[in-house]
This record gives sequence, structure tokens and C-alpha cells, in this order.
Amino acid sequence: PVEGLEVRTERRDGSRVTLLVNAARLQNGARTVLLAFQDITGRAELDRLRSEFMSVASHELRTPLTPLSLILQRALRRASRGELLESGTLERMQRQVRRLTELVGTLLDVSRLERGKLVIEPRTVDLAALSAQIVEDFQQQAPQRAITLTVHRGPTLVHADPMRIEQVLANLLDNAVRYTPEGSSVEVEITGGEESVRLEVIDHGMGLPHEVRERLFDRFFRGITDVTARLPGLGLGLYVAHQIVEQHGGTIDCKSEPGKGCTFVITLPAAKPETE
Ligand SMILES: Nc1ncnc2c1ncn2[C@@H]1O[C@H](COP(=O)(O)OP(=O)(O)OP(=O)(O)O)[C@@H](O)[C@H]1O
Ligand SMILES: [Mg+2]
Repeated sequence: PVEGLEVRTERRDGSRVTLLVNAARLQNGARTVLLAFQDITGRAELDRLRSEFMSVASHELRTPLTPLSLILQRALRRASRGELLESGTLERMQRQVRRLTELVGTLLDVSRLERGKLVIEPRTVDLAALSAQIVEDFQQQAPQRAITLTVHRGPTLVHADPMRIEQVLANLLDNAVRYTPEGSSVEVEITGGEESVRLEVIDHGMGLPHEVRERLFDRFFRGITDVTARLPGLGLGLYVAHQIVEQHGGTIDCKSEPGKGCTFVITLPAAKPETE
């Protein structure tokens, strides 16, 4: 008998296929053999994606861990000689710990999303005030970057989970800063409305080619140029943002012209007086 033999071969049209083969005699000693072929191409592809993901994720987790342990080792050496810490040591460690916490948080969110377990707790939130806070945080992390917030007209109250919306905006700002040159500015614009409130994150970087627009919000999508492939990232920021916004009953979209930057547009349902 043959049990669970995986065979990779090609279909007549040249496409690849993975077959699971099982064979057994119908009766002991009988001449008739039962051969079963099962097409497991989908499962094999899933396995491949999963293992690719594991390797990318481990690599990303190691990125903050390596400097963290170096800084720690240095600090321990100094401490053992009775010397003071170099200035900025704790802050540098804190930055790496923060990055690690974010990464683990993203991985947890993705796993929750997959199981339909990501819970949002919407209430009335002022999107303009929330955005101002997040923009300020980013501005502090990258003081040399001009990130501006403009509120065009009110009301800007939305029915949303502030923690989740903060996450969405942080993911968009993170991209806007990561995928654009150092000197270029980023604008956040909010336009209030009766039914929904619109938020745009506008950057002036490399932009995105038309053909990737559809895959942008897919899990693990990291773009098609080696410029972005060389930068750190799991390809999960936009996937998570998209899922969160959809759960709110809102929309997220990208407008872009290659070479002229990207504009990500989010709409969220306006808070109705009776929802409070
Ligand atoms: N503002 C932008 N300008 C140019 N390309 C972008 C922009 N935002 C996203 N992209 C492209 O879309 C890809 C997917 O973005 P996403 O935020 O989902 O993942 P990531 O930034 O690669 O990793 P992560 O957000 O998980 O750290 C990016 O790798 C990049 O190629
Ligand atoms: Mg990102």
C-alpha cells in the first residue's frame, strides 16, 4: 500500500498541481488495486504561504531584538564596572520594546481577525481630536518631518472604537512616512459630514502603480518594487486597517499616481445623536 504520497506535477495546460496519492489492495492477495488521487494544490499553497509568513515574522521580530540585547549587554557591562548608564540607553531600549510590542500586537490582531474575534467597541468619538493626538505622537518621533492636520469643516464626530481607529491612522501614517523621502511632507485632512466623516492621509512619495491597487489590502502584500521589499514590514498594516474600517461600516481606498504619492481615504459613519 501507498499512504499519503505527495506528488508534484503539471496539468496539461502547464500549471502546477500537487496530488495526494493513496493506494491499497481491495482484498488481501487480490489483484485489484485501488488508487486514489486527491488534488491538494490549495492546501499546499496555504502551507507555503504559512511557512513564508513564519520566516518573515521571525525575521521582523528579530529586528528589534538584536539591538535590544546589544544595548542591554553594554549596559550590564558598564553596571558590573560600577559605571553609570550612557545617556539615552533606556530610551533606546524603550523604542525597541515598543516596536516588539507593536509587532506582537499586529500578529495577535491578524489571528483574531481570522477567527472573527476582533471586537470593536464603538462610541461617539471626535475624529479631529483623536487624529490631532496621533499626528502629535508621530511628529514627536520624527521631528524633522512636517505632518500637518487640517480640519475642513465639522461636525467630525464619528461612531467608532477610538483604539481601533487610532491603529488605522497610525498604520497609514507609518506607511506615509516609511515609503516617502525624508524631506517630504504628509498631510492629514478631515472633512465632516452629516452621514459620514472623511479622513485623508496624503503623501508625496513614490506612489503606487495601478496594477497593485487591488492587492494592496491583501494579507502579506508588500508591493512589487525592491525598494519596499528592502524596508522592514510584514505587509499587514493595510490588511488590518481595511478589516477594522469595514467592521465599522466605513470604507478605505487608495488614490495614487505613480511618482506623485498616495492618498488614502477613509470614511467612517457619523455619530447620530441617538446613538449615545
Ligand atoms: N504610502 C505609500 N506609498 C507607497 N507604497 C505604499 C504606501 N503604503 C503602502 N505601500 C505599499 O503597500 C505595501 C503594503 O503596506 P502594509 O502597510 O500593508 O504593509 P507594510 O508596510 O509592508 O508592513 P507593516 O505595515 O505590516 O509593517 C507596502 O509594503 C508598500 O509596498
Ligand atoms: Mg505598513
